[in-house]
Amino acid sequence: MTLHPLFMHPAISAEEMARFAESMAPVMRAGDTILLDGPVGAGKSHFCRALIQARMAQVGHVEDVPSPSFTLVQTYDIGGLEIWHVDLYRLGDPYEMLELGLDDAFGGAICLVEWAERLGDLRPQGALQLTLAANPNPDTRQLHLAGGGDWQRRLAPLIDHAARSDHVR
Ligand SMILES: Nc1ncnc2c1ncn2[C@@H]1O[C@H](COP(=O)(O)OP(=O)(O)OP(=O)(O)O)[C@@H](O)[C@H]1O
Ligand SMILES: [Mg+2]
Repeated sequence: MTLHPLFMHPAISAEEMARFAESMAPVMRAGDTILLDGPVGAGKSHFCRALIQARMAQVGHVEDVPSPSFTLVQTYDIGGLEIWHVDLYRLGDPYEMLELGLDDAFGGAICLVEWAERLGDLRPQGALQLTLAANPNPDTRQLHLAGGGDWQRRLAPLIDHAARSDHVR
């Protein structure tokens, strides 16, 4: 599936990223995957935490969302739906992801995958790609979103909202 550029923010703050992640929470459904790339400290876990906790809040659930840097995978059962929060930084061979059961999770869970570039050719079709890059201003990041299928239609209202934000520079 072709990845279409959907959105670019030249300098998004941590707070704005969290608001954007929260706005995505109700839109996500079983089988959706977000692939997150960007250097150490870019804000991948920050985005995932805000999305997962917003999804928990929808069902009155409160739980810590630690970074999966060491465990590789943290799973959450939220109102009968699984969220997989994955960090592949320590993945050696892309095929190790099969041992983690990640290929099955791609089909039935909501998967948020940090360091997704480690998947190589095993990146799932139809995923949303979220890429963060460092900015000369250390309090902000450059954000790129890309995806095929119906991501554009599903995210259009959120992207419009983020783009209209007073903070957009
Ligand atoms: N958009 C942003 N603008 C500025 N700072 C941010 C932004 N997003 C996150 N941060 C800050 O960057 C720091 C690192 O974020 P985080 O741990 O989410 O990075 P990461 O990409 O998951 O790194 P790693 O590759 O080590 O997992 C946090 O202190 C967070 O508050
Ligand atoms: Mg992280």
